[in-house]
Amino acid sequence: MKVTVVGAGAVGASCAEYIALKNFASEVVLVDIKEGFAEGKAMDLMQTASLNGFDTRIKGVTGDYSQTAGSDVAVITSGIPRKPGMTREELIGTNANIVKSVVEQLVKYSPNVIVIIVSNPMDTMAYLVHKATKLPKNHIIGMGGALDSARFRYRLAEALNAPISDVDGMVIAAHSDSGMLPLTRLATYRGVPVSEFLSEERLAKVAEDTKVGGATLTKLLGTSAWYAPGAAVSALVQAIACDQKKLFPCSVLLEGEYGQKDVSVGVPVIIGKDGVEKIVEIALNDAEKAKFSESTQAVREVNKALDG
Ligand code: NAI
Repeated sequence: MKVTVVGAGAVGASCAEYIALKNFASEVVLVDIKEGFAEGKAMDLMQTASLNGFDTRIKGVTGDYSQTAGSDVAVITSGIPRKPGMTREELIGTNANIVKSVVEQLVKYSPNVIVIIVSNPMDTMAYLVHKATKLPKNHIIGMGGALDSARFRYRLAEALNAPISDVDGMVIAAHSDSGMLPLTRLATYRGVPVSEFLSEERLAKVAEDTKVGGATLTKLLGTSAWYAPGAAVSALVQAIACDQKKLFPCSVLLEGEYGQKDVSVGVPVIIGKDGVEKIVEIALNDAEKAKFSESTQAVREVNKALDG
């Protein structure tokens, strides 16, 4: 399994590190536009190999996409992150140009690649990849819901004072502060609905803390987070590499599912060797359907900027 990670910044390097630590990929190519930066990150990471016990070869290149040829998976993290007080949507102008040029180069050398898009505003960037390439729709995966769901489980476990592994929950819809839809009704603690243990107010607080999870970290760190985003990407890459057929909420092109068309937004999907192997349609109640539809409409509004 050859994996390319474009953008050797905070998220790109974190994801390369987690992929290497799990030791399932033979090669990771880090690409950045900043001269020598990816080479430096790759060398530093490779010097952890004997200490951490992995055999994955990590190579860094400055803009030389010929080195990415034959990649099975490519992760796009190139672009600018938000600063405190910014929304993800404000990044669109800069990041759309970067993502478009990057994906064209990737596809030139790896025409059958599975692309995982991380750069924000992610749902719109995933839609842009559909428009800019001829890749099949199952080969374009937007990473947002995997991270947001991990943040949801963290907040649920905190509220329940429980081990995170005993808690389950999922966040769907747009990867934005206002658009995320943490499915509190379906969240469970040891298989029992969390509403049996938490008051409505406490659950509403969990949902709100989840939605502003990225903004909270951006305020604390001065830039956006990287450990959990890197771990979420590496989990998706591993699901493809190891054909796990595991369920993650991801931003995928909808063609009638969930009553939506021609938009990429977060829904539960099965990830395996072919990328998105199935879109799972869970039964939403009326309130959830209305929120999902509102969130999707907001993504469509952001997508309009791609035409301008
Ligand atoms: P960063 O600034 O640390 O790294 C970005 C890297 O991209 C830099 O090293 C930069 O030199 C490189 N770059 C810029 N233009 C390039 C080009 N044309 N070709 C190759 N490399 C290029 O930023 P960070 O924190 O790693 O975030 C990256 C992106 O990921 C941001 O847009 C951020 O908002 C997004 N993000 C998305 C998440 C999600 O859940 N979808 C979670 C966290 C971040």
